[in-house]
Amino acid sequence: MIQFELETDKTLFEDSFRFAQKQVKRTVEKHPDFYPMYTTAGKWKHEGPAWTHWCDGFFPGMMWIFHKNLAANGGENVEFWLKNAIRYTKPLEPRQHDRDVHDLGFLFLSTYYRWYQVERDPALNDVLVQAGRTLAMRFREKGQYLRSFVADNSLFIDIMMNVGIILYAARETGDKMLREIAIRHSLTTRRVLVRGDGSTAHEGLFDLESGEFLKQTTHQGFRGDSCWSRGLAWSLYGFGTCYEYSRDPRFLETAEACADYYITYSPANGVPPWDYNAPAESRKLLDTSAGAIAASGLLRLSRLLQDPVKAHFYWTTGVRIMRTLCQEHLATKDKNWEGILKGGVYHIHKNLGVNESVMWGEYFFVEALAHILRQ
Ligand code: GLY
Repeated sequence: MIQFELETDKTLFEDSFRFAQKQVKRTVEKHPDFYPMYTTAGKWKHEGPAWTHWCDGFFPGMMWIFHKNLAANGGENVEFWLKNAIRYTKPLEPRQHDRDVHDLGFLFLSTYYRWYQVERDPALNDVLVQAGRTLAMRFREKGQYLRSFVADNSLFIDIMMNVGIILYAARETGDKMLREIAIRHSLTTRRVLVRGDGSTAHEGLFDLESGEFLKQTTHQGFRGDSCWSRGLAWSLYGFGTCYEYSRDPRFLETAEACADYYITYSPANGVPPWDYNAPAESRKLLDTSAGAIAASGLLRLSRLLQDPVKAHFYWTTGVRIMRTLCQEHLATKDKNWEGILKGGVYHIHKNLGVNESVMWGEYFFVEALAHILRQ
């Protein structure tokens, strides 16, 4: 019986991985050199605003994942994905100096990091290191955090997905100050944005004069005291990465607390509402991108745990989420839909990308699929 389920899963995940490639290829051919962010009625190209420019790594990032998987398994299109991954990655290079966003981990760990793993050209590593140094410039001594893109007094939970590039740069260069900044930021985030029950707030505000933490608030969640599911997924994944680089057990403990909250309060099929504390009617709106991020984060976390029972639990939960996404949320039946995964939510209050495909959902979905298929 177990064997049968595994075989069914294998086919489901392989078919889904092929579908993801088909959709990305279609977008490359239909909109050459365009960097999609979120769909409107299933179409990537529209006049909707970006709010902030944080997503350009995810589209080429998927191409790097396809390339790696196919190169290892002798599939077709290896050259196609390599050529296009480089074509879409190169234009990001100047953004290693971008001081307007807090998203340099999203941009470069999905692209230059993957490229460097393939070619080992030191010039590629230099870009990664510079991106880490640039992000570290956002650090505020008073308050001990990397400020978000919205204001100097603002800390976002999303930044936990980006501190990895500072830790990477610290490791590559031996620069202790970089490491210190990443650790201090993560400890502050743990203290002010992760609650005792493992839930998370989206944003924290500080007094700029004293550095004192003032309150939890939100942009994309339901309320300042609610738990926005994507923020929780960023935290689960981000603290896991922070532990992977630092080996500081406090970060593993935090990642596990977030994972346990996610598992406890999400529906049995693993795909959460957009915010766990939104009113009941609103909670019917899911965020599949939070599901994809959490699945990928749980698969990674399962490798880091000492306890084999808990590791197995996280792995099988990640697989369960992916099974639901593949069976119930893929755009396979809608021939006009340009994305892979339906049902993501970008910014509900601004009405951007609500119940649509979103580029980070696509990327982490593909990352989790590739992780499962490697086993
Ligand atoms: N700005 C990151 C997010 O929408 O999750």
